[in-house]
Amino acid sequence: MTDFHIKIGSVEFMNPVFVASGTFGYGVEIPDLLDISKIGAIVTKSISLMPREGNPPPRIVETSSGMINSIGLANIGVEKYIEEMLPQYAQISTPIIANIVGWTFDEYLEVLRKLEAVSSNIIGYEINISCPNVKKGGMEFGTDPETVEKLTSLLRKATNRLLIMKLSPNVADIASIALSAERGGADAVSAINTVVGMSIDPYSHQSNIFTTFGGLSGPAIKPIGLAAVQKVYRKVSIPIVGIGGISSGNDVVEYMLAGASAVQVGTATFRHPDAANQIFDQLKTYCQTQNIQQISDLTGKVKLHS
Ligand SMILES: Cc1cc2nc3c(=O)[nH]c(=O)nc-3n(C[C@H](O)[C@H](O)[C@H](O)COP(=O)(O)O)c2cc1C
Repeated sequence: MTDFHIKIGSVEFMNPVFVASGTFGYGVEIPDLLDISKIGAIVTKSISLMPREGNPPPRIVETSSGMINSIGLANIGVEKYIEEMLPQYAQISTPIIANIVGWTFDEYLEVLRKLEAVSSNIIGYEINISCPNVKKGGMEFGTDPETVEKLTSLLRKATNRLLIMKLSPNVADIASIALSAERGGADAVSAINTVVGMSIDPYSHQSNIFTTFGGLSGPAIKPIGLAAVQKVYRKVSIPIVGIGGISSGNDVVEYMLAGASAVQVGTATFRHPDAANQIFDQLKTYCQTQNIQQISDLTGKVKLHS
């Protein structure tokens, strides 16, 4: 029997297969379609200080082996989130990680402080410093190492809960951004958010996305995610949560070998709402046939040629 427990910071999770922000709503919408008690953790949609409509349509388009989205961080805002969603989390045994986004240091901090000020069973925060779909904010925070360190340490001082900084692949050196998050006091980093992409209708000549550029996700970005995780693994000693194109148990194994302690399933849930359950079942079969005693033993164990 494999032990699937993994630890991030001081928090122990039952298994390493989480669901990714923006692809599982606020964690309360689809419990009938899958068994959420089998999910390692639910990362909720990015929450900002004020409610947001997001970008105008079209804001989603399918591409080969993936999709492009430009939702633009549409969300109900932190006040409504506290009022309507937090009470519902009391009924959910799966650990909830609240994802936060902001446009200034103060905004990130205020959202976190508001969440800290009320009693809830949120286990921690994932900080979105990597959204490519908005003109200002989100990703701008995630591209400069000094800014990342400053933001991380500000948030660190405001919470003892798990603090995960979510990294963008749309940077020159993702490992140095991860190092800044570690220096700022993050418990972990997650990587990757979506990759900047574009799609055009060859007949109408029209961009398929209102904002022209959007975020590519799905199987197409798995190799980019794997490389990012391996680069970050070489540079930092805090745990890494691997994200990007995961749609099978073997994908989870690859991410863990590259250096991830846990993973998040995103776009795969749009194809199969119970993807996270299926993926965990496939991981269990892999571990059984490969005689893996402890899932965490896989982390970073990729065999390199040199
Ligand atoms: C429709 C959609 C909405 C997303 N919204 C968010 C979001 O609000 N906050 C965030 O941090 N990431 C968001 N993401 C990024 C995912 O959490 C994940 O990092 C990315 O999709 C890569 O994983 P995947 O290839 O498994 O989808 C979103 C992705 C998609 C496809």
